[in-house]
Amino acid sequence: MEELRLLLDRVSAHLKLKSENRMLREKIKSKHGFGSIVGRAPEMEKLYRIIAKAAHSSHPVLILGESGTGKELVARSIHFSGPYRDKPFIPVDCGSLVPTLIESELFGYVKGAFTGAVQSRDGLLAIAEGGTVFLDEVGELPVDLQAKLLRAIQEREIRPVGSTKRISINVRILAATNRDLEQAVAQGAFRRDLYFRLNVLSLRIPALRERRQDIPTLTSHFLERLSRAGGQERTLSDDALKALLAYDWPGNVRELENCLERACAFTTGPMIQVSDLPSAIHSAPGTAPPNGDGQAKILPMAELERQTILNTIAQLNGDKLTAARLLGIGKTTLYRKLKEYSSQA
Ligand SMILES: Nc1ncnc2c1ncn2[C@@H]1O[C@H](COP(=O)(O)OP(=O)(O)O)[C@@H](O)[C@H]1O
Ligand SMILES: [Mg+2]
Repeated sequence: MEELRLLLDRVSAHLKLKSENRMLREKIKSKHGFGSIVGRAPEMEKLYRIIAKAAHSSHPVLILGESGTGKELVARSIHFSGPYRDKPFIPVDCGSLVPTLIESELFGYVKGAFTGAVQSRDGLLAIAEGGTVFLDEVGELPVDLQAKLLRAIQEREIRPVGSTKRISINVRILAATNRDLEQAVAQGAFRRDLYFRLNVLSLRIPALRERRQDIPTLTSHFLERLSRAGGQERTLSDDALKALLAYDWPGNVRELENCLERACAFTTGPMIQVSDLPSAIHSAPGTAPPNGDGQAKILPMAELERQTILNTIAQLNGDKLTAARLLGIGKTTLYRKLKEYSSQA
């Protein structure tokens, strides 16, 4: 008995540490509330005021914006600058999980609910007690789960998969999407009632190309961080900054961050030059071609198309669906072309 008690004590201490650890990690990620959101464009200043207000309410907030604009960062800021910052912040990616998994993740399940459910597990909506659940890419949620989520929010109760009992919950819901939800509602792909529930407060983060004045600030913010991490001071040449300012950034701040990270990895000297940037960026209209003689290299259309497609996918971290949308081609066309390229190689 004594041994068992000791063991249980150790297990419970371990679990407590683990959850504290997770909470601390989430806190560090968001550093100083919305102090970690960089940008002084007027649209961003407006956003900060809304975040500050939203942080002190408990209503759901719908965060809109293209991929990479900082939706998750904003959600964290809302949570960590509010009164329940010591409670959990739990992100759930509705876009990357299979539907049955989202259901058991959100609502939990009881032992024997399905094959493999060897023991009961609490749902994230219950685990987040007193804190926030962040439903990322909520537009991807299947319709039957939309109904269950709506009921959970309205009745503040959930029923774990395979259970007959309801559990009351107390969480704040933040949701984000890069889809046009109103259009999805009109097309019947997203429930109108859930849309209204989530959209009590809404805020839209502008695309990076709509606030180009933030590009230099963001760039020095990321370079500072990269310099610190790499133990080597990194700066950007004037021409390189010009190229960054002229580029359209379909992948927004995430793309800028990745681009600088790659540039730092490939550059040996302290200064990043135009030629260290991905070709899609230094050949953006408005920037001088890197060879400086005013004459860009002429490429066949098919090759240009191939480079554009592959670059876009790379900049979006492999997100082919978004790439197809941004390039204005169908996803089947994109997949067909990719197949052609790989067979040519
Ligand atoms: N305004 C900003 N200031 C600093 N970093 C930002 C900003 N916006 C986005 N980021 C960074 O860009 C990356 C993508 O942000 P994220 O919140 O995941 O975007 P989204 O969820 O909209 O796709 C993250 O590493 C995030 O820290
Ligand atoms: Mg995201």
